[in-house]
Amino acid sequence: MSITGVYKGLDNVPIKETVISTIDGEKGKLYYVGYSVEELAEKSNYEEVSFLLLHKRLPTGEELKDFSNKLMKERTIPNEIWSILEKTPPGAPLMDKLKAGVDLLGLFDGEAEKTDKAARLSTAIRIISKIATLVAGVYRLKKGLQPLEPDPGLNHASNFLYMATGKKPNALESKIMDVTFILHAEHELPASSTAALVVASTLSDLYSAVSAGIGALKGPLHGGANERALEMLMSIKTPEEAEQYVLRELASKRKIMGFGHRVYKTFDPRALIFKSYLEQLSEMRKDRKLLEIANRIESVMIRELGSKLIYPNIDLYSGPVFNLLGLDKEIFTPIFAAARSVGWIAHILEYWEDNRLIRPRAVYIGPGPRRYVPVDER
Ligand code: ACO
Repeated sequence: MSITGVYKGLDNVPIKETVISTIDGEKGKLYYVGYSVEELAEKSNYEEVSFLLLHKRLPTGEELKDFSNKLMKERTIPNEIWSILEKTPPGAPLMDKLKAGVDLLGLFDGEAEKTDKAARLSTAIRIISKIATLVAGVYRLKKGLQPLEPDPGLNHASNFLYMATGKKPNALESKIMDVTFILHAEHELPASSTAALVVASTLSDLYSAVSAGIGALKGPLHGGANERALEMLMSIKTPEEAEQYVLRELASKRKIMGFGHRVYKTFDPRALIFKSYLEQLSEMRKDRKLLEIANRIESVMIRELGSKLIYPNIDLYSGPVFNLLGLDKEIFTPIFAAARSVGWIAHILEYWEDNRLIRPRAVYIGPGPRRYVPVDER
């Protein structure tokens, strides 16, 4: 069979059916199993959203209690893993430490190779729970601090923030962290979910698939933009300077971080939610500098590039929110990974219900068949 036509970047190539999530890029809407992220961010929590993504329905009160309990009980990481991670080079990227940590978790999990439905679900819960502890722990180790024991009295997101910063969050900080986890939990099939799915389609284990997802998320074309957006905001001193900055960058044909999206052709709905929390957090901290600079960049960008349908994406406002929560920029993408672990796994479990090995083709453009020339005749 001759193969022609290349779907470069797999743009708009569907590789599975799903009931997990859908994006309406024209209207700027994102739904998890039919529920809008705006409503979930307002009324739900990460535990419930995780159940929703894994089971494709909302839990009953009893099911939610049981699921949250299971997540809480799985939070600890074996000491052997911490001592290995402690010996990794201090300057190595946090995403690499996280990836190594997930591989180690798989190595230490005696159930990792089990393939029945119940065992896979238990492994899923273990990964989703422990990955947040891993992110907080490798972050602290990199800062020369010891990882903290999880606090069973806190929910998943608040416990994460506590384990990362060492401080118990107040009500607003808690809500913002929960919303952060909800909004990063799932986004159909970006590169990281696709990478995880490719690994899982070989019937490899969940840890290997999640590790592949982390590798793909690390790249600056995917998860890495939030750090860069914050660097940009912090390098600008005043809103007036922000306007000059944007005009200068656009004149030099450089991209402004935190704007544009392959699917959204209007505001990313997650950006609008983060923006409203940035307003509240800036008010609470009595520090509106990053908010005002981001606002000015947003209005100049819409004035200059609105006609090209370039609008803010999630990364414009998530960085300053994390910054005001007291987190350093190197943990931003790992937070994304911790929250997205459930989306990766939900897609894998759905795909395994009717698995087909993902094996694309390449269009060969090299020389025709020819005779091998021994090295001393070349
Ligand atoms: N700043 C300035 N101009 C932009 C931007 C931007 N952020 N984004 C797109 N454009 C312009 C392009 O220069 C191009 O202009 P042209 O038609 O005159 O050549 C046009 O808009 C179309 O842009 P493409 O890059 O072709 O759009 P694509 O869909 O391929 O890219 C992407 C989407 C990669 C997100 C891009 O907008 C970008 O690089 N943004 C900055 C990085 C960023 O914020 N990434 C986070 C994405 S969200 C996430 O991953 C969670």
